[in-house]
Amino acid sequence: MEVKQYLLNTLRKIHLLNFSNRLGFKFNNHKDNKKNLEFAGRYPNESFPPTEMVYEVFGRTSYERYYLSGQRAARNLVKLFQQYSDIEEKKILEWGCGVSRILRHLSKMVINSKCQVFGTDLDAEMIDWNRDNLSGITFKTNKLLPPIDFENNTFDIVYCTSVFTHLKEDAQQLWMAEIHRILKKDGLFLFTTHGDYYANEKLNAMELNRYLEGEFVLRAKVADGSKLMTTFQSPDYVKQKMLNGFELLEHNTDTSLQIAGSQDIWIVKKT
Ligand SMILES: C[S@@+](CC[C@H](N)C(=O)[O-])C[C@H]1O[C@@H](n2cnc3c(N)ncnc32)[C@H](O)[C@@H]1O
Repeated sequence: MEVKQYLLNTLRKIHLLNFSNRLGFKFNNHKDNKKNLEFAGRYPNESFPPTEMVYEVFGRTSYERYYLSGQRAARNLVKLFQQYSDIEEKKILEWGCGVSRILRHLSKMVINSKCQVFGTDLDAEMIDWNRDNLSGITFKTNKLLPPIDFENNTFDIVYCTSVFTHLKEDAQQLWMAEIHRILKKDGLFLFTTHGDYYANEKLNAMELNRYLEGEFVLRAKVADGSKLMTTFQSPDYVKQKMLNGFELLEHNTDTSLQIAGSQDIWIVKKT
């Protein structure tokens, strides 16, 4: 694992990470092609996004993993929300929904309870794919930084999975305030971060030291918001720097939930 991280860091330093990412896509796409056709054939009523898009949001090209991991995540998200709110006639937003790995399932799970479901993302092509292929969800684009095109106090529940993990510190701060603005009072916000699990797995000794001292650790040299930009922040950092105007309800490190891999899950309430 250390050798892999060393190689990735070197590629990042010499600006070749995008190139190696492209090679990774080609290799995986070729490997998964036949299985993807078979899997999509088993679900004739479902649409599957271009594998480039699946790879961008998920780092893999397997339709089976895209579809089943999203279904499991949606189920677990609904259970987490239900600990703090009923899910009847609620307005729910996934910010940074990508190609609806999760949202396509979650929208079906809440359809009978008269919820209204929304999805937004930075990537206009992904939002176009969502609009053209999924029904019952309102999709919009937003820019890298706020504002987002919703009125104050609109949503009962907002969630984002693996979005802060690709945004710089100042952008994260602006988005915490923006999500606060569009949530109703007592509304829930669930977000995920790279916490101890990934810090221990991915950071080198120097980075880990900075992480443990409460610093925000950023791996950049690629476009903001892209999956190749990664951030790590300790639980203390989140508690001290991100929760202004929110009450912390839950910090969940149960890696069996697999909402966004083994990222830390945070549930907060607008006060
Ligand atoms: C790793 S993907 C995760 C996608 C989805 N949440 C999932 O779990 O499958 C990160 C997503 O966040 C989006 N993103 C990054 N920065 C964003 C921003 N400022 N606003 C909205 N979406 C953003 C990216 O375009 C991408 O679709």
